[in-house]
Amino acid sequence: MAEARMIDIYIMGSRYQVPEGLTILTALEYCGYRMIRGCGCRAGFCGACATVYNFKNDPQLRYDLACQKTIEQDMYLVQIPFFPAAKALYNLEEVEANGEQVLKLYPDLVKCFGCNNCTKTCPQDIEVMWFMSDALRGDIREVAIKSFDCVMCGLCAARCPQGLVPYNIALLSRRLYGRYLAPPSKHLEDRIAEIEAGKFDAEIEELRKMEQSELKRRYAGREIEPAY
Ligand code: FES
Repeated sequence: MAEARMIDIYIMGSRYQVPEGLTILTALEYCGYRMIRGCGCRAGFCGACATVYNFKNDPQLRYDLACQKTIEQDMYLVQIPFFPAAKALYNLEEVEANGEQVLKLYPDLVKCFGCNNCTKTCPQDIEVMWFMSDALRGDIREVAIKSFDCVMCGLCAARCPQGLVPYNIALLSRRLYGRYLAPPSKHLEDRIAEIEAGKFDAEIEELRKMEQSELKRRYAGREIEPAY
């Protein structure tokens, strides 16, 4: 088997040689960094691995998910630690599903001046600025639909010059939409009825009693949707 080509990357300023084709996350681990924070699902879903990088002779910062972005020659890497972004506290059962409610919980929303940094930063290619304007107009459904692929990495908030938190505003909108506005889902109702009727009780009981090694074997061999 042909050996992988080695390329240079820089982690916190130190140069490392790593095999071409690794993701930023696996490259960090290849170099001996143990990711305790800033790493979760490893599949682009949890948003825990938000990363900032740039290149030798090109200082412009780029943003991505470390588990998805493949390393490139002369990449300079910095893991950003989790940063506390404003998140309104609310009880979903006690809030109203309308635009005024969103503005009440996130009044700074009116400060958005449309710079589009949030959209340019989003590793999921979500039209963040557009859903912010939908939120400003009180169109919760549109926010929920446009932000559906959000993985809550927080990079949009990290780049907003007005200190807004688009990902949390989108989360509130999806919750309001899901709880109050979305039409009831027939297949979900059917599945809940099946669960309540005990259709899966025997299988769950079987799993409960299973040896860990067998559980692992079945988990590894399960059918999953392909990533692409
Ligand atoms: S580790 Fe979950 S999105 Fe990267």
